[in-house]
Amino acid sequence: MRIMRAAYASRFDADNPLAALTVGDRPEPAHPDDDWVTVQVRASSLNHHDLWSLRGVGLADGQLPMILGCDAVGTDPDGNEVVVYPVLPTPGDPRGVSILSEHYQGTLAERVAVPRMNLLPLPTGLSATDAACLPTAWLTAWRMLTTRGRVADGESVLVQGAGGGVATAAVALGVALGKRVYATSRDAGKRERIAALGATAVEPGARLPERVDVVIETIGAATFDHSLKSAAPLARIVVAGATSGHLPAVNLRRVFAMQLEILGTSMGTPDELTELLAFCAEHEVRPLVDSVVPFSRVADAFARLHSGDVFGKVVVDHTA
Ligand SMILES: NC(=O)c1ccc[n+]([C@@H]2O[C@H](COP(=O)([O-])OP(=O)(O)OC[C@H]3O[C@@H](n4cnc5c(N)ncnc54)[C@H](OP(=O)(O)O)[C@@H]3O)[C@@H](O)[C@H]2O)c1
Repeated sequence: MRIMRAAYASRFDADNPLAALTVGDRPEPAHPDDDWVTVQVRASSLNHHDLWSLRGVGLADGQLPMILGCDAVGTDPDGNEVVVYPVLPTPGDPRGVSILSEHYQGTLAERVAVPRMNLLPLPTGLSATDAACLPTAWLTAWRMLTTRGRVADGESVLVQGAGGGVATAAVALGVALGKRVYATSRDAGKRERIAALGATAVEPGARLPERVDVVIETIGAATFDHSLKSAAPLARIVVAGATSGHLPAVNLRRVFAMQLEILGTSMGTPDELTELLAFCAEHEVRPLVDSVVPFSRVADAFARLHSGDVFGKVVVDHTA
C-alpha cells in the first residue's frame, strides 16, 4: 500500500486542539467512484474549521483518523494546474453535502482525491499560494456579501472580528466592490492594517457613524448584539460562523422593529467560486496572507492559527 505524509486528527481534544494533531504517514487517498481523480497538492491553507475538527466539532470518533484541510491548489493527473472546490455531495449527511475533511479525507497531505467535476482551472496571474486561500474562507465571504447579503450600490457593510480569514476576505472584497466597509477588531495593530485596506476600523462594540445594510458575522456570541444594534432598517445579518459561541442572546424587538434578516450561509457554489477566481484575477485583488509555512512545519501553522494573532490566511506550501 502506498503511503503519503499528511496532517490529521488522530483523536479529539476539546480544550487543546493542537494536542489532537498528528503529522505522519497515511494511505494514498481512495477513489469511491470512477469519476474521482487524485490531485498532487502544491498549496493549501488552514481554516478555523480545522481547529473545530481537532476539538471534535462536526466529526465523530468513527471518522478518525481524518486528514484535515479544506483548501487545495495542485496538479491534476493530466498536468493541469487546478483549484479544488471543496464541497462534495454526501448522501446521509443532513446538509446533503460535506466539506473535504468531514466525510472525505482533506487536503493537508501530499495528495487529495476528489470528483473530477470539483476541479476548476487556476486562473493566469494567481499564484498557487494565493489561490489556496480562496475555496473556503474567501468563497464564504464572497457569498455572504453577494448572494446572501445582496449588497447593493451605495450600501455599507460591517465585518466583525476583522483579523480572521473570512473577515479579512470580506473587508478586502467589500472595498473592491466599492462599498463603505466598517470592521471591528480587538487588536489595535489589526485595526491599523484594516484601515490600510480602505475600511474604517473600530473597537468591538463601538458606535458606527451610520447604521449598515449588511453585517458579516463569524464571531457569534461576543459580537452579535453589536451586529443587531449596528443594522439599518431592512439590513441583512449574514452568519457563517460562531467562533466565540453559538448561543448569543438575540433582541427580537430589534429584529422585528428594524425588519432585519438574519441569514445563515455555508461555503458557496462552484459558479460562485468561478466568479470569485475571475474577480480576483481581473481586479488584482489578492488574499491577505498572514504567513506561508512549509508543509514540513505544518504543526507550526496550526499553532499560529490557534494563537488568534493571525491577520488573514495561514497558507501551507507543499512544495517546500
Ligand atoms: N459556514 C461556512 O461555510 C464557514 C466557512 C469558513 C469559516 N466559517 C466559520 O467562521 C469562523 C471564522 O473562520 P476563520 O477561518 O475566518 O477563522 P480565523 O481566521 O481563526 O478567525 C480568527 C478571528 O476571529 C476573531 N475572534 C476570535 N475569537 C473571538 C472572540 N472571542 N471575540 C471576538 N473576535 C474573536 C478574531 O478577530 P480579531 O482578533 O480581529 O478581533 C480573529 O482574528 C469560524 O467559526 C469558522 O468555523 C464558516
